[in-house]
This record gives sequence, C-alpha cells and structure tokens, in this order.
Amino acid sequence: MSQTPVLAATPEAIRRAAAIIRAGGLVAFPTETVYGLGANGLDAEAVRRIFTAKGRPLTDPVIIHAASIGQLAEVGVLPNLYLRLAQAFMPGPLTLILPRGPNIPPIVSAGRDTVAVRVPAHPVAQALLAAAQVPIAAPSANAFSRPSATTAAHVLEDLDGRIDLVLDGLASTIGVESTIIDLTTTPPTLRRPGGVPIEALRAFIPDLAQAQQFLDSAASAVAPGQLLKHYSPRAQVRLYTTADGRITPQLAARMNADLAEATGRVGVLLTGFALALPPAAQAITLGDDPVAASAHLFASLRALDAAPVDVIFAAWVRRDGLAAAVWDRLVRAAEGHVIFVKP
Ligand code: TXA
Ligand code: MG
Repeated sequence: MSQTPVLAATPEAIRRAAAIIRAGGLVAFPTETVYGLGANGLDAEAVRRIFTAKGRPLTDPVIIHAASIGQLAEVGVLPNLYLRLAQAFMPGPLTLILPRGPNIPPIVSAGRDTVAVRVPAHPVAQALLAAAQVPIAAPSANAFSRPSATTAAHVLEDLDGRIDLVLDGLASTIGVESTIIDLTTTPPTLRRPGGVPIEALRAFIPDLAQAQQFLDSAASAVAPGQLLKHYSPRAQVRLYTTADGRITPQLAARMNADLAEATGRVGVLLTGFALALPPAAQAITLGDDPVAASAHLFASLRALDAAPVDVIFAAWVRRDGLAAAVWDRLVRAAEGHVIFVKP
C-alpha cells in the first residue's frame, strides 16, 4: 500500500485535489508532457513544500500553470508582439518566460523578476485548474535530477509519502517536458527543447536565439535547470552518436565492440538498428521515431534502472523536431558522457 493516495481522475477526485491545492497541499497530476507536482502558485508556503518534497534547490524556479491565455495576465506580462505565438501553441507543450506579475511570490521564480508560464492541454490538468481557481506552480513530479514521471506509478516511485495526492490520468502522451522560450531577452531565447519543435516556433520568432545547452554544475547557478546531471537514472548512461545525424555501420560496430567488453549488469536502449547483445543484457526497444521515442524515453530509463542494471548503452543521432528534445534528455541522462563515432 502506498502512503500517498492515488485516485483515478474522476470529477469527485478532481474536486478533492482542488481542495488540497487551495488548502496549501501538494497534488501530482497528469499533463500531456509529464506529470506535474502542483501547489497553489499564489501561496509561497505551499510552493516551498514542492521544493522540500522533491529535494530541489531553491535556486531552481518552477513553472506556473494557467487555465487559459486569459489567466496568463494574472501571472505575468505577455508582450503584444507574442500574442499570436501564445494563441498558436497554448494550450500545449510550450512554456513562456515573461516579466513576473505582482501576484506571483518570488519563491516561484527563485527571486528573479521573471516567471515561466504554461497552459497545459491535458483534460485532467485543465479540469484541476478550473476547479482550483488559482494558478498552479508545478515542476515535474520526480525527485530532483531523476527522470521525469510519465505515469502515476513513476510519481509514487519517487514521492510516496511526501505529497498529499496523486491524480491518475493515464500516461502522459508527449513524454518530454515543454519547450521553454524566454521572451524577456532580445531576441527571445530557447531555454529548453521540448514538446513543441523549434522549427514550428521559428515561424513566429525567426531570430530565436539558442542558449548554451549543456552546463556543468559550476555554471548552473546562472542558468537554473540547465544542469548537465538531470533526468539521470541510477545506472551510468553511455550515449553514442554520429556528427551528421545518420545511423552508420561504424556506429553499430563501435557499440558492439564496447558491449562485448562491458562488465557489470548491462542495459541497452535499442534505437532503430540491431546490436549484438551480451547474453545477460536487458534490452528495451525505444525505436528511432522521435514521437514514439519521446513518449517512452523516461519510462524506458526507469525500467532499466529497476531491472536493475549498472550501465545503459544508448544511441541517438537525430537533432531535428522532437528528436532535439530526446537528444537533450539523453545527453543529460548521460551526464555528458557522449561518444561521437566517426564515419
Ligand atoms: O512540461 C513541463 O514543462 C513540465 C510539466 C509538469 O508542466 N514541467 C517541468 O517543470 O518540466 P520543471 O520544473 O521540471 O522544469 C522547469 C524548468 C526548469 O529547468 C527551470 O529552471 C525553468 O523551467 N524555469 C522556470 N522558471 C524560470 C525562470 N523564471 N527563468 C528561467 N528558467 C525558468
Ligand atoms: Mg524537471
């Protein structure tokens, strides 16, 4: 039996969850990207509990979830220039960093004068926001630096007994977090690749800048959330890739050679080509389709961890569209241990 109740997201359960949020408690709920760990975004003490439950440093700001573009105005200041951008992608897997409105307590933004906001599309998230009638602060519902949760069971793995309720609304279908665009810089800056492909955003922001993507922990204080060690399974991840974004015979040959020499319990994420697996290896097929790979990435890392294995061999070559988000999460899971195989 879990200590934290898990309820199927019926209207009655959603009313109960909304009451917990309004009373300052913590509720994990599904969104289309990953599960979120929600608290009343207007209540500094409630938001503080999120950081404690996750073991997350107070320097890492959280995203505010709003019911609609209309409710954004209670949270931050959306420049008129970007209203069409918001209308095109909200509700959906896009987060915008805006000047922080006066209602939002500083702890949400780790003291910054900006705030990250998103309007989730998942019907359970929408129903919870409507019932709670307050904006909901919610980071991903995983323990700090672990892979994000895409099911209620993943949430319990990390947070059982530390939060008040889990609303079970089936699996998150996108599977990677929202794309984050900072509108407080000129030009706007991509802070995190995610569920909305960068290519789609360029139609609205042709001069979109790319933030430096991977930082080690020493540099992390200036760019919260860009920590290299993030989304990490307990096993060590070895990520293989090619510079030109194609699967080559040399890639498989190098991985096969390394697999033959691997010691300890070996896990493999298969991504679109065959490998010679050592006899006791645990393999999970992620495939090379970016949409399917995004949907199953975190669950696959968690499953290999639970096997358990000591090392995970993975390959990923594409960087376009949703594949950019898969690449980003795998590089972080690998803590930068990336092996570029030459043609
Ligand atoms: O899809 C998502 O965005 C999920 C679901 C639950 O909505 N949420 C999510 O939250 O991924 P979290 O906390 O795991 O990641 C939010 C990222 C963090 O890396 C944080 O540093 C960044 O957003 N962030 C939040 N507010 C910010 C701000 N004011 N300035 C810069 N970065 C910010
Ligand atoms: Mg997170």
